[in-house]
Amino acid sequence: MKKNIAVIILAAGRGERMRSAKPKVLHPVCGRPMLAYVLDLTRALKIKNQVIVLGHKHEQVRKIIPSGIKISIQKKLLGTADAVKTALRQLRNFKGTILILYGDIPLLKKEAIGKLLKYHVDNNLDATLLTAQLDKPSGYGRILRDRYASISGIAEEKDADDFQKDIKEINTGIICFNKERLIAALNKVRPNNRKKEYYLTDTIGILYKNNYLVDGVRIADINEALGINSRQDLAKANRIMQQRINEELMKKGVGIVDPDSAFISFGTQIGEDTTIYPFTVIESNVKIGKSCSIGPFAHLREGTRLGNEVVAGNFLEIVRSSISSKTFAKHFCYLGDSRIGKSVNIGAGTVTANFDANKKSSTVIKDGACIGSDTILVAPVKVGRRAITGAGSVLAKKDVGDGEIVVGVPARPLTKKR
Ligand code: UD1
Ligand code: CA
Repeated sequence: MKKNIAVIILAAGRGERMRSAKPKVLHPVCGRPMLAYVLDLTRALKIKNQVIVLGHKHEQVRKIIPSGIKISIQKKLLGTADAVKTALRQLRNFKGTILILYGDIPLLKKEAIGKLLKYHVDNNLDATLLTAQLDKPSGYGRILRDRYASISGIAEEKDADDFQKDIKEINTGIICFNKERLIAALNKVRPNNRKKEYYLTDTIGILYKNNYLVDGVRIADINEALGINSRQDLAKANRIMQQRINEELMKKGVGIVDPDSAFISFGTQIGEDTTIYPFTVIESNVKIGKSCSIGPFAHLREGTRLGNEVVAGNFLEIVRSSISSKTFAKHFCYLGDSRIGKSVNIGAGTVTANFDANKKSSTVIKDGACIGSDTILVAPVKVGRRAITGAGSVLAKKDVGDGEIVVGVPARPLTKKR
């Protein structure tokens, strides 16, 4: 545990450029709020003192904040410098290094932060910036350097002149400060800029002018620095995070035929030798066993549990359902709120009619059953072990016994048993 480091996460902003009713930091990246990744990062860094600044729709955002993190409410969104001031009220007795993280920078890895902290502490600096060199720096604050190449300030995009706009070295937003120097500099920040806001980034020029030591550490992987301000940025973050998720899964023995068209949520558990075919969407809270075959064009939604050697083939949707080993659902169907046993064959076009326009009900299909093509299972309904439903049958809330064979609309038992 790092004792003399405290972290402040800024997440109060409105996120206007998203044009959304949802607070920006709650927009999902691969199935979970972008802020959750920042919270993972602070957990991984094992920093005990943590304060998060919330403001816009804080009632919604605070639901995902773990109890160990202090919450500061910024009442008026006066800018990033004001947000940091708000947080510092919760760190009155703390002495040491303050690490600033932003709630809208979800792709950072702990190694980059570790390196920044080490450089800051080892060199006894007053402020250390995490910077990045970008081909297209627009949107970010530009790093200004003096004639000795020392960092002398930051120019925000909106206030930058044409020469400053050509600078490709940018401020990622992640900064380490010596706390006392930070407080002194914050008190000098004025809202003399286009946005009429108190910019945290102005502290850098202030420290430089007062001969304090400011330096920067360049991030190796520029993808990590991506700040999300718009829907376009969000799409980009999704793509990068998806690549990371898919690579991790492949390392664990999951086959992904086309990683560019496998949309798998963060945290999805998938067993070895399972193959994901193209255009598959797997939402959060899904578990898949070993040696399964998923897709192409499959949509597995929350609460899907698949055993081993399950086939969930083309054009199907599964939600809140568990399917045991060796069960096949190879062609277009909808399985919702269902519990399906082992070695069941689900014919093409099978639909669980789980919703009666009022409430949802469940379907149970026991081991070895054979569901004929185009069967409609109007829930609640149970199909017994090794039972058979004929093609096109409609089970209107009427259970089918073990070994029984039913056909027709509504389905009626045949005298013959299996
Ligand atoms: C900021 C930096 C910019 C940097 C970029 C990196 C400033 C002034 N600019 O710009 O140099 O290149 O991030 O992505 O810091 N927030 C609050 N309270 C406020 C305003 C903002 O908590 O009053 C929070 C936001 O929720 C967000 C973060 O601070 O998480 C950054 O704010 P944002 O408006 O996104 O700043 P950028 O324009 O991206
Ligand atoms: Ca931002």
